[in-house]
Amino acid sequence: MPNSVDTATRQNFLPVPLALLCLTKELPVDVYWSLYQGAEPVLMRGHNIEIADDEFPKLLESGVETVFIPRDQADVFQKHLRENVQSILGNDEIPISQRMAFLNSTGRTMLQEVFRSDNLDKTLASVHVISDHMTTLITQNDVVAGELFHVLQHDYHTYTHSYNVASYAMLLAQGLGIQDEDELHSISIGGLLHDLGKLRIPNNILTKKERLTEAEWQTIKRHPTDGFTALANRADLSFDQLMMVYQHHEKLDGSGYPVGIDGDEINHFARICSVVDIFEALTSNRPYRNPNSTKEALEILDQMASSKLDGDMVKCWKTLMQK
Ligand SMILES: [Fe+2]
Ligand SMILES: [Fe+2]
Repeated sequence: MPNSVDTATRQNFLPVPLALLCLTKELPVDVYWSLYQGAEPVLMRGHNIEIADDEFPKLLESGVETVFIPRDQADVFQKHLRENVQSILGNDEIPISQRMAFLNSTGRTMLQEVFRSDNLDKTLASVHVISDHMTTLITQNDVVAGELFHVLQHDYHTYTHSYNVASYAMLLAQGLGIQDEDELHSISIGGLLHDLGKLRIPNNILTKKERLTEAEWQTIKRHPTDGFTALANRADLSFDQLMMVYQHHEKLDGSGYPVGIDGDEINHFARICSVVDIFEALTSNRPYRNPNSTKEALEILDQMASSKLDGDMVKCWKTLMQK
């Protein structure tokens, strides 16, 4: 089963991780699958047909990772996810690692759709829903950073990266002593939105394997400002959250962008974001390089500690990841 989905399929279908469907009994949408790489998806299960408990898990074991929902049913599917996610995440009988994986699939699927829609209201609404669940799951369970790392996807998509950064940021904030749920919630929203400006960067630049030209690099460097500008007038976002968007590439020694501010000028939330942002980027698959191991990534963070990144935060993240 291919993981890569061709453009024509992507236009007509929403690719969905099969793991996401394993915990639901009945689906209000048709499920399609692709029998071989590049094949037009064909109907596998009609909507509202009862699904046997082991049907999807068996398929998953046989190597089917992605199925497809027709685009015109995507809204119904999103609604179904939103309605079911609460009961699944709150079910103590399901191991926490499975619930984390479920939220990860749900969150990524929701983000993928809203980022694609280019609609800020829709994006903020989904970001709030994801963040609510993330906050509840993380604050009510003993979520270990290393375990979380293993259930996350590590591909290069902005929606994956944003989801991962948000969940890491919450764990790091907790590790730094922030226990207030509202504050953690707010940090996860900032994390989900931190790279919003990247949605304006052409995909061929984001996925370019060769060295970037100076002009392309300048385009990349615009994303904190673009994200900030898009969100700055929203009354539902705090100053700290906006700083996570605007300042997450600034460095303590002033070598960052977009402004090159240094030291104490960099917001506390933005510093949290920047540590886990770099960790996430290093440990994920990128079109131009293979991922670093956790150990390598922590060593790189260590080299940046104090000069470029907040030393206490790096130390805390290392402790959390090595637990
Ligand atoms: Fe960024
Ligand atoms: Fe980022």
